[in-house]
Amino acid sequence: MGSDNALERAHRLLAPRIAYLIGTIDADKTANLIPVSNLTSVSTRPQHVALAVFKQWSTYETLQTAAGFTVSVPVIDQLEAVWKLGARYSRFPAAGPSEKLAASGLTLDHQVSGYGPVVRSGIGWMTCRTITRLDLGGDHGIVVGEVEQVWFNPDYLDRDGTPRGAPHPVMQQTGNQFTSTADEFTTVPYY
Ligand SMILES: Cc1cc2nc3c(=O)[nH]c(=O)nc-3n(C[C@H](O)[C@H](O)[C@H](O)COP(=O)(O)O)c2cc1C
Repeated sequence: MGSDNALERAHRLLAPRIAYLIGTIDADKTANLIPVSNLTSVSTRPQHVALAVFKQWSTYETLQTAAGFTVSVPVIDQLEAVWKLGARYSRFPAAGPSEKLAASGLTLDHQVSGYGPVVRSGIGWMTCRTITRLDLGGDHGIVVGEVEQVWFNPDYLDRDGTPRGAPHPVMQQTGNQFTSTADEFTTVPYY
């Protein structure tokens, strides 16, 4: 037991976490892009990723029927854009997704995937076909996607996805506190 209400904040122990950008297209063909840190790989053969989205967000609604979604990985220099894209969390006053996407200042590629926009100037992106939706009764719903395409930005990653230098993804500690990965790697030998 910790301090009062610690249990309600248990997820803060799992920090910092990378902020990914989830791209979607809703039934009216409107593109959206939102930061999501609740995302992880859940299978490597085949490649599956799972994400959890708050049931009140419009992205949650879109994901209920969309055939898939995109995942882009922004760099720390893009933090201001990431924060704006998380408008309903950061309280950025945007009228709708289109205005918000424009206000982010990010150059988006709308052509590469029918699932949603991607950001080419970050560490890379992937597209995922939705294979399962799970409602475990919590305030977030889970979507699992199978990766169909991936692009490693050669400015940051080699062709096999290993880093060329030290990439600096956006990492959220909690709320409006962000950090980035350490500048140098520590390497340990395999046994
Ligand atoms: C760094 C960061 C991480 C976030 N992570 C999540 C997350 O994992 N799941 C989620 O549902 N919302 C998350 N959000 C909040 C949504 O991105 C935000 O509320 C967004 O505006 C929802 O937009 P929509 O209603 O257009 O889908 C995060 C926001 C930020 C800034």
